[in-house]
Order: sequence, then structure tokens, then C-alpha cells
Amino acid sequence: MKAVAVVGMQFGDEAKGKIVDVLSNSRDVVAGIRFAGGNNAGHTVVFGGKEYKLHHIPSSIFHGKLSVIGHGTVVNPGVLLDEIRQLGALAENLRISPNVHVIMPYHIHEDVLLEAKKSSKVGTTGRGIGPCYADKANRIGIRIRELFDGESLNRKLEFLIPLKNSTLQHAYGWDGALDKDAIAMEYAAYGKFLKTYAFDGTVPEGTVLLEGAQGALLDIDMGTYPFVTSSHPTIGGALAGSGMPKADAVVGVMKAYTTRVGEGPFPTELTNEVGAKLRQEGREFGTTTGRPRRVGWLDIPMLKYAARVNGVTALALTKLDVLAGMPEIKIAVVYDRAGIQINALSHATDVADATPVYEIVKGWKALSQEQWNALAQEGFAALPEEAQEYVRLIERSLAVPVAIVSVGADRNATILRKPLHEL
Ligand code: IMP
Repeated sequence: MKAVAVVGMQFGDEAKGKIVDVLSNSRDVVAGIRFAGGNNAGHTVVFGGKEYKLHHIPSSIFHGKLSVIGHGTVVNPGVLLDEIRQLGALAENLRISPNVHVIMPYHIHEDVLLEAKKSSKVGTTGRGIGPCYADKANRIGIRIRELFDGESLNRKLEFLIPLKNSTLQHAYGWDGALDKDAIAMEYAAYGKFLKTYAFDGTVPEGTVLLEGAQGALLDIDMGTYPFVTSSHPTIGGALAGSGMPKADAVVGVMKAYTTRVGEGPFPTELTNEVGAKLRQEGREFGTTTGRPRRVGWLDIPMLKYAARVNGVTALALTKLDVLAGMPEIKIAVVYDRAGIQINALSHATDVADATPVYEIVKGWKALSQEQWNALAQEGFAALPEEAQEYVRLIERSLAVPVAIVSVGADRNATILRKPLHEL
């Protein structure tokens, strides 16, 4: 058994879903396991002129591979049901670990009400992710396996619903009330349906892709706390959340520039018309919430940190086409902190008071999407010389090879410079 982890190196939205889809095409790959996060994530996969948006289901599903929602994730069963319906016959290879924690209605209320009360907001997606992981850690979570048995679910809710009603109403001033019987009925029905997808733990011999959500800088321990999500999008989370003992390769997915949704430090942020153009060209609006993403230049010190904490062995560079048409492109190569130059972060919290020092490189000409697709078929050497140089600069700076280059949303707009077994 071989495991290849696919992790985000920035603040999420690096197009990990597309990279997992592309890698899943390899004959060596037998399965994909989503290891962390929930429907705060949105993974977009485009092929055959159709766009699919997945929140819970691993992107390996599109190549007919065994696709497991791993126990490190949290799932909203209603959202998962909609995804299963969207996929139709493709959902046949879906499995869900019975130990996945369930996002309950009270988690969503707690998430939204807590954010509203905070003076310093995180800018969560409002999907109940934090409260669900908090209940898991507090050992009062409900797992998918508990939805399979209506009786035990009912007993658990008899304890939990009064507790949650009391917290929501008294601590948060909520004027609603949770109806235990209605919730018990709805979630037992989900359980009945999802039982047919229960994962029995068997994975065939071959390569397993571990599909991450979010990115290193959003890791609850390794990220820019408190402006983070509530799980581990990094390699440790990939192993704990999938049950795999080791990863043989770690593919770090990075966008050719940086984006961030929600609050928190962002040293290379562009709040001017250059940023607005990048947002427009890159369609940088949240897959889950539709919120406009904050946009900025590439940040090498941050990426060095992400490569180090993940043990990244290969890079997948996405959205290189989006930078086209810029006369010049800036890259933050070091940080200046109170007059001292910093090459790589020792911890993500160091981002907070960093001033980026930029190197300016020449841009490359704008091309139509059809032209990019055609160039991708020809290979790396067909890309504009300045774009190739941009890729080489990243490789030199991070000392990791760029094995995959993506120049468009479609599956075919991808250059694979190394086969999967060499990553
Ligand atoms: P939560 O995960 O909904 O609790 O949100 C915590 C922080 O992580 C917020 O800043 C969100 O915008 C951010 N976040 C969560 N999921 C994603 C994602 O998939 N892409 C980008 N940002 C995310």
C-alpha cells in the first residue's frame, strides 16, 4: 500500500480538488480518502463541459475509484445527500467511515451566534465546523454510526438537546428552540440512507490519495490562530484523519498567487485595482459561501513554511494562466520584521507583523482559454518563456520540483511533468 497526500500550502482554495481528480486518473490509484474538514470546503472539478462542486465527497469519485469520507472529517448529512444525488451513478464507489462526526443543527446555530457575538471575528463559513469538532473533542459528538440506530440516537439527543437549547438560549440569547423529536426523526432517516455507504475499512492494494481541505496556514495548530479552521489540513491530519500509517509522497498544492477568505493576517494582500483584476480573472469567490476572496502576490516565506511542516516532496502549481497579461509580477521573497530579514517563518503567527520584500519579474502575454488548453497538451516547454521562468523561480526558492502545472479549470488544462510514482 502506498499513500500520496495532497495538501493545501496557503489558505485553502488552491484547487486541490482538481489535482486529486487529475492524479486519480493514474492506473496505480485505487482509492481517495478525504481526511479533514467538512462542508466549509468546496472542491470544483470541471470536465466534459460540466462543473461539479463537491463539499464532502473526495474528487477521486470522478474516475470511478473507491472514495472514502475519512473519520477525520465532519459531515452535514443533508449536504452529503444532495451531493450523492448530483453524482447519480458516479456515487456508487462512495463510502463513509462510520466514525465521521455529524454536524448537527445546533452546531450551525452555535457557529453563527458565536461569530455574531465576537468583537474580533474569525469570518467562519457558518457551517458549524468549529462547534462540531469542539463536541468531538469534548466527547459529546454524534458519529455517523449512531445515526444507524434510531433508539440510541434518541437517547443521546434526550441528553444533548436540552443542553444545547439551554446554551443557545441563555448564553447566546437565541429566541428559537430545537425540537428533539423532529431532529431525531430527520437524522435517523439520514442514517438509514447512509448505512448503505458505510466503509468497512478495506482498501485494495495500490496507491491511496489522501485529499485535504483548506491549507497549512488555516491549520488549528500550525496556522494563523485564531484565524484558522478547527482541524489539521497538514500532513499530521492526513494520517490521523485517514488512518494511514505513513505518506510516501506529499504533493503541496499552491496557487500562482495568494488568496484568503475570512479574517486574519495576509502580508502580500492587494487592496488596489491589481487585486480586483486578479479576483475577477481568477474568479476568486468562495465555492461555499460566495464571499469575495482577499487576493495578493505569491508569498515565498509562507510557502517555505508550508513545505517544511508538511514535508512536501512535489508541488502542484495552479492558476498560472490567471497571472497572464500583467506587465510585471511581484513575489514576496523575504519578510522584514523590525529591520531583520526573515527567509522562512518559524511559525505562522510570525506572519502577523511581517512586511514583505518583493522581487519583480516580467509577466507574460494574455491568452484565451483555448490557447492555454492547447499549450497544456504540448507540454511545459510550450508555455510562454516568462511563465516557465516563474515556475523555475518557485522551484529554486522552495527547493521542491513543480511536478504539476495547471493553466485552466478543465482537467485537460494540466501539465504533468512527472508521473505519480515519481512524486
Ligand atoms: P470555518 O472552517 O468555517 O470554521 O472557518 C474558519 C476560517 O477558515 C475562516 O477564515 C474561513 O473562511 C476559512 N475556511 C474554512 N474552509 C475554507 C476553505 O475551504 N477555503 C478557504 N477558506 C476556508
